[in-house]
Amino acid sequence: AMGDQESAFVAAVALRAAVPSAPRRDDQRPVPGRDFANTPDTDPAVPDARAWARGLVVRTVEPPAGAVTVSTTDEVDAVVARAVAAAPSWAETSPRMRGEALRRAADALEAARGDLVAVMVREAAKTVAESDPEVSEAVDFARYYADRAEDLADGRTPGAQFRPRGVTVVTPPWNFPVAIPVGSVLAALAAGSPVLVKPAPATPGCAQVAMAAIAAVLPPDVLTVVLSPEGDVGRRLVTHPDVARVLLTGSIETARAFAGWRPDLDVMAETSGKNALIVTPSADVDLAVADAVRSAFGHAGQKCSAASLLILVGSTGSDDRLRRQLADAVSSLRVGPAADLATGMGPLVEPPSEKLLRALTTLDPGEEWLVAPRQLDETGLLWTPGVKHGVQPGSWFHTTECFGPVLGVMRARTLDEAIAWQNAVAFGLTGGLHSLDEHEIEHWLERVEVGNAYVNRHITGAIVQRQPFGGWKASVVGPGAKAGGPHYVAQLGTWTDGPEVP
Ligand code: SER
Repeated sequence: AMGDQESAFVAAVALRAAVPSAPRRDDQRPVPGRDFANTPDTDPAVPDARAWARGLVVRTVEPPAGAVTVSTTDEVDAVVARAVAAAPSWAETSPRMRGEALRRAADALEAARGDLVAVMVREAAKTVAESDPEVSEAVDFARYYADRAEDLADGRTPGAQFRPRGVTVVTPPWNFPVAIPVGSVLAALAAGSPVLVKPAPATPGCAQVAMAAIAAVLPPDVLTVVLSPEGDVGRRLVTHPDVARVLLTGSIETARAFAGWRPDLDVMAETSGKNALIVTPSADVDLAVADAVRSAFGHAGQKCSAASLLILVGSTGSDDRLRRQLADAVSSLRVGPAADLATGMGPLVEPPSEKLLRALTTLDPGEEWLVAPRQLDETGLLWTPGVKHGVQPGSWFHTTECFGPVLGVMRARTLDEAIAWQNAVAFGLTGGLHSLDEHEIEHWLERVEVGNAYVNRHITGAIVQRQPFGGWKASVVGPGAKAGGPHYVAQLGTWTDGPEVP
């Protein structure tokens, strides 16, 4: 099965042996009690691209067999019934043994790194530099949640008894097609629930390669990948009466649709964001520009965590330098296929939505292009990145998530005005501040309404344990303990006789 398929699915795969290994995320020391970090602009999890290039070959990855394809609601019922049957013995497997299984899953995912990178490049159009740390994140989730499973065994909440919630459906997005499904699935497994995962339609292979690695260390029917068409069949899976909980990462519209289908559905969701990065006159401009570009245009802006607004404070003149540097940095981002190692920004995964198209092609009153986006090919998928300045408070772009490669620049008189604009959106997922003034930093941290607040750092790519990830306001549905944080697994069950878990 080479030929066409191969050329269509050309992807980069690492020969890891030839490459000096990148520093691992989970070697980093946690920062107790702080979910933001003053880290330098280089993420230690991102490998040096040239080091990668030396060890690269090009090849095709076929998703493994093993996913269950369902095309009728009866078939969905049968898959759910098998998970229900597997539930008691997995619930009775001690948390310590479940933790052990997760550690083996971590090793299996690590061993599958090359295939996972390849399938991400191919299906999600993620560059190698974005895909590789995503594998690290998945491995980190596995090891971190293995420890959290053991917390359940250790009875760290005296007198409290933990009960698994039951059959859990995971519906992940296509933009983090490995780390998010792996994190959600492993957390539910750590908490003793069998899982049915329904991959995003755009990235079924990513989920299949990752889940095959995990399922190999589990008893049968504890983890099943379900491939189903959208519509009634997909809906049956989410609304099945024997499904105890749904873990969704996706748009707010999908979360609302799920809740509408089954009002008593227990859905926990991470949804959208409209995230801003504030730069004050005290900031290190070089760092601010590098972090803004990375936050706005990594994976072509298709991240719920992406920076979509850059709010410049004051009139010290530094912002003119900043705007010039920003324009230079953005116009020199090389746009191309994800599998090309020279690519700085890859294509969109789906043709632009109506909102994104408007953001890419239209200026509202007061706005001007600092860097005008251009469509590079007829598919509508390949665009150069855009920066518009003069975005007005309360305007359409200020408050609308567009999910693509457009950054809007606003100019505020004071830090307080900038914070007010940052907070004046329905969502509250990520946010950033670039400032070298301690008072400004404290002032901002006390007021910003986001789940992940980053100081002098890019605002995407939360690191497991160091920066537990999750929003507030309209960015979250359900109990909302953060992914990759201490309470995420514990919230996936029912506690009796003990204090409440936050
Ligand atoms: N965890 C991702 C990030 O921090 C978003 O899902 O960018």
